[in-house]
Amino acid sequence: MIMTDRPLIISYSYSGNTQRVAELLQAAVGGDWCEIHPWQPYPASFPELLEQVKEEIRSGYYPRLLPVSCSLRSYQIVFAGSPNWCGTIAPPLASWLYRNNLSGKIILPFYSHCGGVSCDFGRDISRICPKADVREPLGVLDNEKKDMGDRFRDWLLRTGTECLIRSGK
Ligand SMILES: Cc1cc2nc3c(=O)[nH]c(=O)nc-3n(C[C@H](O)[C@H](O)[C@H](O)COP(=O)(O)O)c2cc1C
Repeated sequence: MIMTDRPLIISYSYSGNTQRVAELLQAAVGGDWCEIHPWQPYPASFPELLEQVKEEIRSGYYPRLLPVSCSLRSYQIVFAGSPNWCGTIAPPLASWLYRNNLSGKIILPFYSHCGGVSCDFGRDISRICPKADVREPLGVLDNEKKDMGDRFRDWLLRTGTECLIRSGK
């Protein structure tokens, strides 16, 4: 079992679903939560957003981000979440992972999705952070309303991070 202190939760959300998962996760495991924001906000119109996102993913573009006020150094376990965009990590989260040194950290990926094109956040994050220990991702449907407590618990057990399960949760 891993000896750990507080985990870091880092997330990007465009329309609030991943943010909701991150909030519930923080309530379940504690730790510190930081949200990522792109320096240039994404368009509000869906066709423009989709076109831009497709191009960013196609070209491997890492968008500039607003400063994030967390220091990675004190964390051994990092939860990293974003929506599934076009079958992969949203570029703002990819950008944060690329710009930070996650070597030796345990990364627990989570994502929100609508049940469309599937993704493999584990593979995609391992490509950006080859020296991190990337564990099994958790996918949450965007309209999933049920209590997430059991799902988080099962996920932490499966990923060998059960030390994060708080008693009573
Ligand atoms: C540009 C774009 C691309 C998307 N691509 C996918 C996809 O490939 N597969 C999927 O299941 N959902 C896809 N979705 C749906 C989102 O993943 C889903 O609505 C998610 O809950 C949004 O999270 P958010 O509210 O944190 O931004 C896409 C949404 C957008 C806006």
